[in-house]
Amino acid sequence: MQPYHPFFSQLALAHPIIQAPMAGVGTPRLAAAVSNAGALGSLGIGASTAAQARAMIEETRALTDRPINVNVFCHAPARRDAALESAWLAHLAPLFDEAGATLPAALDEIYRTFNDDEESFRMLLALRPDVVSFHFGLPSSERLAALRAAGIRTMATATNLQEALLIEAAGIDAIVAQGIEAGGHRGMFNPDLLDERLSMAVLVRLLVKRTGLPVIAAGGIMDGAGIKAALDLGAAGAQLGTAFILSPESMANDAYRANLQSERAATTALTAAVSGRPARGIVNRLIAHGASGAPAAYPVAYDAAKQLHAVAAKAGNHEFAAHWAGQGAPLARAMPAAQLVQTLVRELHADST
Ligand SMILES: Cc1cc2nc3c(=O)[nH]c(=O)nc-3n(C[C@H](O)[C@H](O)[C@H](O)COP(=O)(O)O)c2cc1C
Repeated sequence: MQPYHPFFSQLALAHPIIQAPMAGVGTPRLAAAVSNAGALGSLGIGASTAAQARAMIEETRALTDRPINVNVFCHAPARRDAALESAWLAHLAPLFDEAGATLPAALDEIYRTFNDDEESFRMLLALRPDVVSFHFGLPSSERLAALRAAGIRTMATATNLQEALLIEAAGIDAIVAQGIEAGGHRGMFNPDLLDERLSMAVLVRLLVKRTGLPVIAAGGIMDGAGIKAALDLGAAGAQLGTAFILSPESMANDAYRANLQSERAATTALTAAVSGRPARGIVNRLIAHGASGAPAAYPVAYDAAKQLHAVAAKAGNHEFAAHWAGQGAPLARAMPAAQLVQTLVRELHADST
């Protein structure tokens, strides 16, 4: 076995590879298949209730006795603003018309931040997944101490040096360095601040040089050559999301899979117009419609997008879906997750690819 960073060897992982948590796309079967193949499988429970998350963790545990990662969202609660929300609905009204859908009268905060969710916190303390990771910010120091006292290792996403230094100061065990290439939501702590939009390569170098923590590279990594490049930059490991979407174990529906395997996968965009926070997905009618002014707060804006998509999808129209994918999307391969992990490892160790 390679002398990987202690973060990976202490978890007894055979490979320095993490399947990214993907709320709404990942499944217990996907996480278990990845963990059984010697990498770290993840469950994204950011949009789930405590009861749903518990069921997902228990289902995963029934399929693997290998370590797993459970990921939560630590965003600031939505600042509700009735005027902004009705302006946002008015902006989306033509799309609801186009889809033959009724414009909602009001929007909801469709899921809570982990930082206000005592039940999910207690559930994690009781079930003790090997790793818990944080996106969009950090939990309180009290909660962090309790998770660590329960023997749970922790990771958190950083998109810049400032966030990485906060993660290090909080006593987290590893930093996920999420570059601008990444699919899905940017884990930035405060979306109102200027986004430097650092590439994975620059961010990894910065964090390797300026923090003492293991750095996990994320964003646009699709194959063993990409993982090798990240390790050469000093990363301790790599976290891949988009690469796993086409696995049969993912929840992606046929339309998502077809889109990801089409020419359209080469055109992704980062937009806050779907959920209220910047996220990267394959450009479709909804993303092209964009935003006029600020969207409603996250995840309130997401409620509108999900309602629009639900009605349109029933009529076979998937132009309003959130097909999150990173810039490496055209390189995604459709293969079972265990086979993908084996392929990534083979490519990582090949002399040239
Ligand atoms: C469909 C999808 C859903 C995602 N959901 C989450 C999530 O729930 N939590 C999280 O921390 N990151 C999430 N991410 C971001 C990943 O953690 C990671 O940063 C990203 O996938 C890396 O870029 P790549 O997709 O190019 O590999 C998601 C990414 C995708 C593509």
